Amino acid sequence: FPMAKRDFLQFSDLDGAEVRQLIARARQLKGGAAPALAPGKTLAMIFEKSSTRTRVSFEVGMAQLGGHALFLSSRDTQLGRGEPIADTARVLARMVDCVMIRNDSQSDQAEFAQASAVPVINGLSDLHHPCQILADLQTYVEQRGEIQGRRVAWLGDGNNVCHSFVQAAAVLDFELQVACPSGYAPDAQLLARYGSNTTVTDDPLAAARRADLVVTDVWASMGQEHDAGSRGGALQDYQVNAQVMALAASNALFMHCLPAHRGEEVSAEVIDGPQSVVWEEAGNRLHAQKALLEFLLTQI
Ligand code: CP
Ligand code: NVA
Repeated sequence: FPMAKRDFLQFSDLDGAEVRQLIARARQLKGGAAPALAPGKTLAMIFEKSSTRTRVSFEVGMAQLGGHALFLSSRDTQLGRGEPIADTARVLARMVDCVMIRNDSQSDQAEFAQASAVPVINGLSDLHHPCQILADLQTYVEQRGEIQGRRVAWLGDGNNVCHSFVQAAAVLDFELQVACPSGYAPDAQLLARYGSNTTVTDDPLAAARRADLVVTDVWASMGQEHDAGSRGGALQDYQVNAQVMALAASNALFMHCLPAHRGEEVSAEVIDGPQSVVWEEAGNRLHAQKALLEFLLTQI
């Protein structure tokens, strides 16, 4: 029997041992280890939203693994003209070895994965951004060692990236303090299922206290730009600035998935300061995803 294909649609699709294995492998690949993937593998990348890091890291990653990536904008594929998701999935699985999707619908990604005979990777959805958190964890481990038992503070919108942190906290057993105003908390169903290691508060300073890692993200995600004014008003007390970092552990790190808005969710002083590892974090998207691609593509 062929082994069942695996997808990476949300962080909890991996267990703790697998995440540790991926981080270790990402660090080996970053250090120059030879890829373990058979040559000539292909990745289709479906983008319904903009991207710099995700697109470049997957495309370069596949090239470095000896394969190839195809950029498919939903605007100029038949998906954008209403061809059913499951039909697209069945067709692509006959031509490519793996599919990455960035869109606004976790349920559409699940439907795609269900119909796909090849692994499907979530490159960001309305609910999750699991590849980002793989890179974040690799970065933490490189800088500070094991994250288990550490304290992570998330300030601001309880969004897709935050949701992946909630799951990661449960999978890797670290503590997550989310600080957000009412109406901006992480999804209640997600917290009920995966929130064992997560606390939600409206007090940003309480969340930051003694944190080993402070993380934030934009106040208006892609698709929410029309509402940026009111969102900014509600979230203005949740900026990560020097006052917040002063309450965190003295060797605390700052991360942000990028793109960032200096002066909104983070002050320039913090993101461009000595505790910020945002460039290492962005660069690790390449290595973490190469490890993920190797893992998923050698299962089948
Ligand atoms: N962090 C991240 O996913 O960036 P892009 O939107 O540029 O891919
Ligand atoms: N929360 C952001 C992340 C972008 C990488 C968004 O969804 O737009």
